[in-house]
Amino acid sequence: MAAPEAVAEAARILRRGGLVAFPTETVYGLGADARDDRAVARVFEAKGRPRFNPLIVHVADAARAGEIVAFDDRARALAARFWPGPLSLVLPRRSAAGISALAASGLDTLAVRAPAHPVALALLEAAGAPVAAPSANPAGGVSPTCAAHVADGLGKRVDAVLDGGPCAVGLESTVVDLSAGRPALLRPGGVPAEALAEILGPLDAPADGAGGPPRSPGRLESHYAPGLPVRIDAETVRPGEALLSFGAHRLTGFVTERNLSPAGDLREAAANLFAHLRALDRPDHAGIAAMPVPETGLGAAIMDRLRRAAAPRKAARRRRSSR
Ligand code: TXA
Ligand code: MG
Repeated sequence: MAAPEAVAEAARILRRGGLVAFPTETVYGLGADARDDRAVARVFEAKGRPRFNPLIVHVADAARAGEIVAFDDRARALAARFWPGPLSLVLPRRSAAGISALAASGLDTLAVRAPAHPVALALLEAAGAPVAAPSANPAGGVSPTCAAHVADGLGKRVDAVLDGGPCAVGLESTVVDLSAGRPALLRPGGVPAEALAEILGPLDAPADGAGGPPRSPGRLESHYAPGLPVRIDAETVRPGEALLSFGAHRLTGFVTERNLSPAGDLREAAANLFAHLRALDRPDHAGIAAMPVPETGLGAAIMDRLRRAAAPRKAARRRRSSR
């Protein structure tokens, strides 16, 4: 676990406009002072992230969030129940609050979240700044769930990496849009949709894939993709394939196997997903065959990530099998 001196040094780096990778309960984030345009621009550069895809701004609590976005009653109810935790809320941005417009990709909304990780909260406290942070991986690739993954993907493009051990949740936060009328689920994640519905009532489904501009600019089809092709809903294993399994099964013929959760536990599966995808992503495998998981609770987010990992990729995208 990162020592207090390491956190203090990382906070100094943030205040000087540097980039710090830090642990959260979901995945590692690549942080910059959200008020600093140049630092935020460096985040987009380091990831190779398109500028139209806005960042989540991390804060210590709902009071801090209310300084930078218009926090309404629904947001207060959700924060009271789920913060700190894996839930990001998209709300109207307070333009006078000094948050870099680039962090929001010029939108008049902003995603905010309070992470449930002692190192992340200590960093926010020490920096005394809201921290804009996407997942700390090259754009389109597999998100990092330990410090070594960050170093593999971003290397020297980060000024410091705080090590907080493996991420407990292992999947990104759920993103909910509260900025326009009915709440919409923009990304399934660490807080299951069923739990949100208890407070919000029924949620609009993710808006992407329906033609027209997506409500969440980052919801590109191919994402979370390892270098190898991924084949989902596998019921058999093809020659040369590695198997990403779930629960007890009778499949045979794989070169290597990683089981997300031999006991069939979705929390365990979520925590293992990205590390197992990376472990199977080796040039001596022909591809990765992924068994389905039940789409309840965290299973919805797991299947969302696997579908995007399996989606057709742009020809220009480089293979990432070296990681
Ligand atoms: O768990 C997480 O959310 C991690 C950790 C580091 O907090 N962060 C993360 O960030 O996953 P990123 O940048 O990989 O994903 C942010 C998602 C994207 O899909 C983005 O499009 C969406 O949130 N988003 C951010 N701001 C938005 C906004 N104003 N309106 C709609 N979607 C937004
Ligand atoms: Mg990401």
